[in-house]
Amino acid sequence: MRRARIVGTGSYLPERVLTNRDLEKMVDTNEEWIIARTGIHERRIAAEGEYTSDLAAHASRRALEMAGVAAEDIDLVVVGTITGDFPWPATACLVQEAIGAKNAYAYDVSAACSGFVYALSAAVNAIESGKVKKALVIGAEILSRIIDWTDRNTCVLFGDGAGAVVVEAQEGESGVVSTHLHSDGSYWELLHQAGFGSRTPASREGIDNRTPFLKMQGNEVFKMAVRSLADVAVEALQSNQLTVKDIQLFIPHQANKRILEAYVNVDRYGNTSGASIPIALDEANRNGRIKEGDLVLLDAFGGGFTWGSALLRW
Ligand code: COA
Repeated sequence: MRRARIVGTGSYLPERVLTNRDLEKMVDTNEEWIIARTGIHERRIAAEGEYTSDLAAHASRRALEMAGVAAEDIDLVVVGTITGDFPWPATACLVQEAIGAKNAYAYDVSAACSGFVYALSAAVNAIESGKVKKALVIGAEILSRIIDWTDRNTCVLFGDGAGAVVVEAQEGESGVVSTHLHSDGSYWELLHQAGFGSRTPASREGIDNRTPFLKMQGNEVFKMAVRSLADVAVEALQSNQLTVKDIQLFIPHQANKRILEAYVNVDRYGNTSGASIPIALDEANRNGRIKEGDLVLLDAFGGGFTWGSALLRW
């Protein structure tokens, strides 16, 4: 059976650490509230002059190195991001140029915190159809540039980072077993960034009204995130006739520790949106948490709303 198999993982976190104590000096918040309500202790912030494509390129080089694959041999670069270098061209094109993947086609996927799972699913489809042999799938975000740093409801939650995987067509049992994706656009307003799109084009009033920044109704999002992450995990198990006991590692999107009871790194990196799952996957892989033959379940939820899963046989 032709399967899309992950043969290399990589991640990159910017050097600068922003602690909860640092945030106490910026907005009316405190370390105790942040830890109790979110589980986040610190997050990383990209340096001035460091862009999403830079983070993505660092993570990609590490994934390519682990896979032993040359950049020229990549057929597809797909980046899940909502904080690309520009509205367009695609950040994937900038990554392609940076790493020298000159034989690939490249595009971005906009699915907020589900971006990596959506991007992985697109690569799996391309590989299973026979059109693509090797793909580079990336989740990369610099949320710190779209956050309203005067809004304590959101600015304590997010962080910057990137994760990448090399996916290759292989015969056998190992590889992506299934993906399931969902969206519900009726909830777009609960989590979005209005400016500057075609509904709210660039204007001085927009800047004065803080239009360009991420807006979130946290408790409404929280309720939907918990329900959808659970539903989609059950869907992945049932459609493969599996139970929770069959899964060796469960990697949910890292938004809030109260949502999670599995692999956790939100305490150190905050919510890195589309980058959170591939960063955690790379950490788990490099720490020896995943062995050949293990079943790994990736589970995502984000703005749109979007949600989805990917089940991997390692
Ligand atoms: N420091 C101190 N107090 C804060 C605060 C902060 N950083 N942010 C909010 N508060 C206050 C609120 O103003 C509110 O005060 P009030 O009761 O006087 O109005 C109180 O804390 C409770 O706010 P609430 O929003 O009900 O808290 P919560 O328990 O729902 O936690 C979030 C808030 C944002 C942490 C939580 O809703 C969450 O994690 N949501 C989902 C995030 C997510 O998953 N996002 C991305 C999905 S991809």
